[in-house]
Amino acid sequence: MAAKITIVGAGNVGATTAHWAAAKELGDVVLIDIVEGMPQGKALDLAESAPLEGFDCGLVGTNDYADTAHSDVVVVTAGVPRKPGMSRDDLLHTNAKIVSTVVSNLVRYSPQAYMIVVSNPLDAMVYVAKQVSGWPKHRVMGMAGVLDAARFRYFIAQELGVSVQDVHGFVLGGHGDTMVPLPRYSTVAGIPITELLAPERIEALVQRTRDGGAEVVALLKSGSAYYAPAAAVAEMVDSILNDRKRVLPCAAYLQGEYGIKGLFVGVPCILGEGGLQRVLEIRLSADEAAAFQGSADAVRELVEKLRAGSVA
Ligand SMILES: NC(=O)c1ccc[n+]([C@@H]2O[C@H](COP(=O)([O-])OP(=O)(O)OC[C@H]3O[C@@H](n4cnc5c(N)ncnc54)[C@H](O)[C@@H]3O)[C@@H](O)[C@H]2O)c1
Repeated sequence: MAAKITIVGAGNVGATTAHWAAAKELGDVVLIDIVEGMPQGKALDLAESAPLEGFDCGLVGTNDYADTAHSDVVVVTAGVPRKPGMSRDDLLHTNAKIVSTVVSNLVRYSPQAYMIVVSNPLDAMVYVAKQVSGWPKHRVMGMAGVLDAARFRYFIAQELGVSVQDVHGFVLGGHGDTMVPLPRYSTVAGIPITELLAPERIEALVQRTRDGGAEVVALLKSGSAYYAPAAAVAEMVDSILNDRKRVLPCAAYLQGEYGIKGLFVGVPCILGEGGLQRVLEIRLSADEAAAFQGSADAVRELVEKLRAGSVA
């Protein structure tokens, strides 16, 4: 039987995730939103591309959570995106309320699913999702690192004039201005980029990666990035449903790993059967550890703001 994937929020990221998931035949897709008719319209339009693209999977658009029942994976993209000049953190309270409502509906109908949260500010929203669902840490995770690493990989490939396929990018920390790209673990065909690029060029690529979301927001003028974010979600879904055991940077609930307790922060994880199978811990230099702590502190501050507003 095909796996069932529910995507909440049929906006840019949600609908594009449905597109990638269908095109890769990851499972049957349910697209749900509060706006009436819109998820139905997008699901129908996408389904009508199936004869042309040759994929076979169910595609349903709905406003009713009953249609999401018994999903294997649920993806939460509901919320409002950033406008130019806004930080991800400006979305905190609005999206926390949306994510809490969405998650309480999802858990009622799919109590055994894996949950991937995308809504921003990511590391705080996935915390809300864990609190509201009460699900164990291997079943709740956030998507950010796969996107941030993909951006870093693209910039490295462009800089060196090589295929993106040969570039690995390593990014740790929260999804925000404090994310921590790690050049010494970022490689081209196994060669660390520190062997191939001058330090100031690396720093420029790292900074562009940190600003990657804002760069797209500024160009679009309304809304934020969605092709690459949606492709990143599809990669995580694929690894879980097909037990690929990919090592992907995810926002994971840490309980002592990297010296952090009770917070979601981006770390390398193995995704496969059973969800988030394991967090890989690596030794960090003093500078890297300080940057990682700074990133975790920024996440903690957001979670504390939510607690103060009694949303988490
Ligand atoms: N984690 C990441 O790396 C990453 C990357 C890109 C975007 N995002 C975030 O993802 C979210 C979605 O972005 P987008 O570009 O798709 O925005 P969008 O505005 O295009 O879509 C959001 C959708 O959520 C729906 N929605 C709002 N409240 C809802 C509710 N209670 N139940 C169901 N649906 C609801 C809206 O109707 C809308 O269709 C934003 O918070 C954005 O910041 C995160």
